[in-house]
Amino acid sequence: MNKYSSFKTACAAIALFVSAVPINKAAAQNKDGNASSVTIGMEPFVTKLMSKMTVDEKIGQLNLVVTGNVATGTTMSKGIEDKLKRGEIGGIFGVWGTENILKYQDVAVKNSRLHIPLIFGLDVIHGHETIFPIPLGVSATWDMGLIEQSARTAAKEATAEGLNWVFSPMVDIARDPRWGRISEGSGEDPWYGSQVAKAMVRGYQGKSMTDADAVMACVKHFALYGGAEAGREYNTVDMSLIKMYQDYLPPYKAAVDAGAGSFMSSFNTINGMPATVNKWLLTDLLRKQWGFKGFVVSDYTALNEVTNHGLGDLQTVSALAVKAGLDMDMVGEGFLTTLKKSLKEGKITQQEIDLACRRVLEAKYKLGLFGNPHKSINADREKQDVFNDDTRKFARKIAEHSFVLLKNQGETLPLKKSGTIALVGPLADNHSEMLGTWVIAGDPKKSVSVAEGIKNVVGDNVKVLYAKGSNITDDSLLSIRAFALTGPEQKDKRSPQEMIDEAVEAAKKADVVVAVVGESANMSGESSSRADIDIPESQKDLLKALSKTGKPLVIVLFNGRPLTLTWEDKHAAAILDAWAPGTEAGNAIADVLFGNYNPGGKITATFPRSVGQIPIYYAHKNTGRPFDGTGGAKFKSDYLDISNDPLYPFGYGLSYTTFSYSSVQLDKTDPVGNTTVKATVTVTNTGKYAGEEVVQLYIADPVASISRSVKELKNFKKVFLQPGESKVVSFNITTADLKFYNEKLTYDWEPGKFIVQIGTNSSNVQSASVDWSKR
Ligand code: NOJ
Repeated sequence: MNKYSSFKTACAAIALFVSAVPINKAAAQNKDGNASSVTIGMEPFVTKLMSKMTVDEKIGQLNLVVTGNVATGTTMSKGIEDKLKRGEIGGIFGVWGTENILKYQDVAVKNSRLHIPLIFGLDVIHGHETIFPIPLGVSATWDMGLIEQSARTAAKEATAEGLNWVFSPMVDIARDPRWGRISEGSGEDPWYGSQVAKAMVRGYQGKSMTDADAVMACVKHFALYGGAEAGREYNTVDMSLIKMYQDYLPPYKAAVDAGAGSFMSSFNTINGMPATVNKWLLTDLLRKQWGFKGFVVSDYTALNEVTNHGLGDLQTVSALAVKAGLDMDMVGEGFLTTLKKSLKEGKITQQEIDLACRRVLEAKYKLGLFGNPHKSINADREKQDVFNDDTRKFARKIAEHSFVLLKNQGETLPLKKSGTIALVGPLADNHSEMLGTWVIAGDPKKSVSVAEGIKNVVGDNVKVLYAKGSNITDDSLLSIRAFALTGPEQKDKRSPQEMIDEAVEAAKKADVVVAVVGESANMSGESSSRADIDIPESQKDLLKALSKTGKPLVIVLFNGRPLTLTWEDKHAAAILDAWAPGTEAGNAIADVLFGNYNPGGKITATFPRSVGQIPIYYAHKNTGRPFDGTGGAKFKSDYLDISNDPLYPFGYGLSYTTFSYSSVQLDKTDPVGNTTVKATVTVTNTGKYAGEEVVQLYIADPVASISRSVKELKNFKKVFLQPGESKVVSFNITTADLKFYNEKLTYDWEPGKFIVQIGTNSSNVQSASVDWSKR
């Protein structure tokens, strides 16, 4: 029997089961001609199904196991096939490819008593087989259309390989770049993060989750995971309720509003209570206040780890979790091994198990898996929809849009498509580092290196002198820790000085030096916090030597987080932040270096000057003694040894062209009640290249019932302008833009003065004031 005939048998088995229930089922046809849904409503369908289930089978649905090579902890699942037959597994993650998935789905739908299909998840974080920039890079596009399309494209590829659930988007607000997982999110701003969260959910889930190319999103990590103390992974989170509601919770809420099907609880405690067993979080806030209708899965063995948090043994914490509203237990089998005992001992109720089971079965229903456990299994799709010309073209485009030009002194960039360049750095002729952190299915060998990209874009018109220049790092601790999972860096046998000398020789013969340097992929992401967020020393030594040659130094930066680039900002002629661009890295970088595309990305997380400034973010409070910028003043909120200002503020990013802003015009300055104020600026392209500008709207609320942030992002628009062209850009401001959580956690606006600020980044704005009264 080949895999497709075995699949048909599997479908027949579940159809048999459904009619045996008996449930009045008529299969709907999806565009692949497969039955994708049962026409009986979800509630009666699941009720009927659950009436047939034993307690063990119900608890089995709450068990998520892992297989393959994707462990993010020390525990792995065992005995999967036997457990599947016994109905002890609700879902599997870590496996993809129709053949592999069919193998497991077949066992579940053919050999388990009730033939209940499995849900198949994976960490599809920034693309599946075709890899896009890391999420922090994707967020720098400020383009919701592209962001949604990145999730849509990933969903198409993932479903073509049999998946139906992705552990994405990660919507944690992060204001501490020491935290390695800042790379997986959209930066520091709650409003902006909310727009990205919605776009990602829309992209993954498509028009309907029953569609063959739609996956269920899993929003993570709920909640506040980005607030880990000292930026140290898995660390405690403790914050005021106002900060939580105002700054950290909005993107999760936005994802609920966008219809996200599932959530993942976070590893951290929140004010002392681990998220995984936090009833206030999982039930009162998520479900009762926000109306979330999906299911919640724990993070990897996070339930077991509640024991380490000090809340009791596995049975105790598992009971706490099911009571709190956790529905699925990832890998640790706390539910599987203890819930029945807790039920017998009266520590939990049958209703509590039923509720969790119902939510998991509902997810499968919403995905159309009961009508067809493999609605998207299709050999042609697996060949056609994965890693093709279109997905690569899109990967190149979104990478180009994600790049942020941090410095460009004397129009060093774009480079001429002639002459000689010295291409140096350990990331310059490298495939394995192009994809960035948290890539499972993507194949680094298929990525385009920077050296290849330059060749593809300028051919032989430019002479390239290549020298590696340094290893990624010669620091033994960083080498061991960062490369622990991926295997050691392939170090050059030469001494650091020999490598530098070779690079300097190349630089001397060239018109310009392009140094491709920064963090390796595994220096950010999970369990990759850094206390020093500089470019690793071996590469810094290389940069210093190159800078001494006097040749213009262009840094192409790879980074999973904001880095401290104070030296680089002072000494490099140009810095192009490329993040980790993904499959099409080299082509996209070369397009931008040589001016085929004019970069317009803007950073979504502040770049500090020094680690000592962290946490640093634009929407900070004024304090009672704000520093006014004059040196030497005492008794102000400042540092003795460094400015308060970041190196690059939120929303910052240059272009090969320049833009000027007119002053802000308001159509009213004394608005009353629920009206709209139109704020307008004229933006002009004052340079010589066509380019895109992200026009940003901030509002400050200088007098309120509580101390407010100095400003908050409220909107933005992207405009494309030819040289010399001007465009009028308007924003409609309503009272919704003025609302905040007050001391009683009521979300409302207060009358008074507001300062409307429009500009090119959070620090460089034009301002006008309104006096907004209630009546
Ligand atoms: C742990 C990570 O925190 C989470 O983001 C991921 O989805 C799971 N492991 C599964 O791999």
